[in-house]
Amino acid sequence: MELTRVAILVLLAFGSSSAKVKEENPEFWRSQAQKTLHSVLDRKLNTNVAKNILFFLGDGMGITTYTAARILKGQLQNQTGEETVMTMDTFPNVGLAKVHTHVGRGGKSVGIVTTTRVQHATPATSYAHSASRKWYSDADMPDAAKRDGCTDIASQLLKNTDIDVIIGGGRKYMTPKGTKDPEYPRDFFSRGKRKDGRNLIDEWQSMKIGKVAHYVWNKTDFDSVDPETTDYLMALFEPGDLRFEAERDPNMDPSIVETTEKAIRILQKNPKGFFLLVEGGRIDQAHHAGRAFMALHETVAFDYAIAKGLELTKEQETLTIVMADHSHPVTFNGYPFRGQSILGKSPLWATDMLPYTTLMYGNGPGHKITNGKRPDIRNVNTKTKDYVQLSAVPTESATHSGEDVAVLARGPMGHLFQGVQEQNYIAHAMAYAACVGTDQRHCQGQTEAPVLHSTLTNDRNAAGAVRGSIALLGSLLSVLLAHTVLV
Ligand SMILES: *[C@@H]1O[C@H](CO)[C@@H](O)[C@H](O)[C@H]1NC(C)=O
Ligand SMILES: *[C@@H]1O[C@H](CO)[C@@H](O)[C@H](O)[C@H]1NC(C)=O
Ligand SMILES: [Zn+2]
Repeated sequence: MELTRVAILVLLAFGSSSAKVKEENPEFWRSQAQKTLHSVLDRKLNTNVAKNILFFLGDGMGITTYTAARILKGQLQNQTGEETVMTMDTFPNVGLAKVHTHVGRGGKSVGIVTTTRVQHATPATSYAHSASRKWYSDADMPDAAKRDGCTDIASQLLKNTDIDVIIGGGRKYMTPKGTKDPEYPRDFFSRGKRKDGRNLIDEWQSMKIGKVAHYVWNKTDFDSVDPETTDYLMALFEPGDLRFEAERDPNMDPSIVETTEKAIRILQKNPKGFFLLVEGGRIDQAHHAGRAFMALHETVAFDYAIAKGLELTKEQETLTIVMADHSHPVTFNGYPFRGQSILGKSPLWATDMLPYTTLMYGNGPGHKITNGKRPDIRNVNTKTKDYVQLSAVPTESATHSGEDVAVLARGPMGHLFQGVQEQNYIAHAMAYAACVGTDQRHCQGQTEAPVLHSTLTNDRNAAGAVRGSIALLGSLLSVLLAHTVLV
């Protein structure tokens, strides 16, 4: 025991860097704490009505993932990492949430941006009601369900709500069985899936007669979509889920930062405001596969998308929420010293005289025991994109985990998002902040229009329209509290 402690001290002393030299001066910490204190004391409650809601959902982005991604973000810029400030870190209101929820729609414009297929669990809950999350197309449904009048998730994308912007993957669930994919015409698995012979992309376009509606499947066409003149956009960049950010082809598929930007620029033309769901959907998928590299790179990209969202909107009128739906059993351990790669190994070896990685899983596909011994990773590069971290228990796919997730909020009524709450509270608080739904006290108490500035791309909707929107918000949509518990 004593020896371990000495070893740690030695290691701490060795983990030196320029950030560390600065931090060795106690005055550095004193003045930083004073600066933070003053900025907290200077905070004013924003009690405006939320004209816009930007909802960033990091699927599976638990707190360990958040912290580890912060370090990776800095290390990708050749810093030690721990001192890096994520965009998420700048949100003044932080709470913890316990369960599971989704919000959608009103008279506002509505958009969905995701990195998965758009028929995947999280985006689907904002428009679909389905007995199974796997009913991507009618080909995935049992005949009995069809006879009972159930419909697949892709077809509900057209029917249930008038979504202005839909961006993600999932082309193959939209086209008749056997339809060749435009990007991978030779790949059998990318071909259309629908047994009912419908082409939902064509149907979607023909429903939008008289409006400017674009369907695109590649970056060239996506880039040429002019948000100023576009009413509707459907962009499906892959047959299924999008690629991981670290494997994305930047000539064919835009990043989550670019898709978030396009969505906001289209939606913010509505003087009544908008609701946009941006999902970092593949953090979860990477963790299921035990691939911390991918999960953290997805999280860093997600943080850049949040930064873009803040840049394009005004905090006075836009409530921005960041949260996760659940966490994963990834753990951050082993006393790595300052600046050491977050994807590297603990400087300490275990009692079996073998090293171990800083990030590990409680369960997942990375479980390997041979002759009672863990794998010897002394000569293994654990920082590669395909490396699967060790897990304590063998499962084909890492499970979700049950601890609370963080909720971060800024903008109108951001202070409602504090404390330890049930997850469905978040939807109710958003509805209250935006004056959609049944509780209108917030708008009635509002005697003056909030001070609003014209948006970046749109000067037309100045104060008059905005004042009008407060009254209109009452008649605006009911918030859809599609309450879905997903596995
Ligand atoms: C970080 O350092 C590496 C190796 O020295 C260099 O190739 C890379 O461009 C640097 N990245 C940044 C963001 O400075
Ligand atoms: C992008 O899609 C359009 C429309 O299908 C097509 O004409 C164009 O060739 C595609 N571009 C690339 C680079 O594949
Ligand atoms: Zn999952």
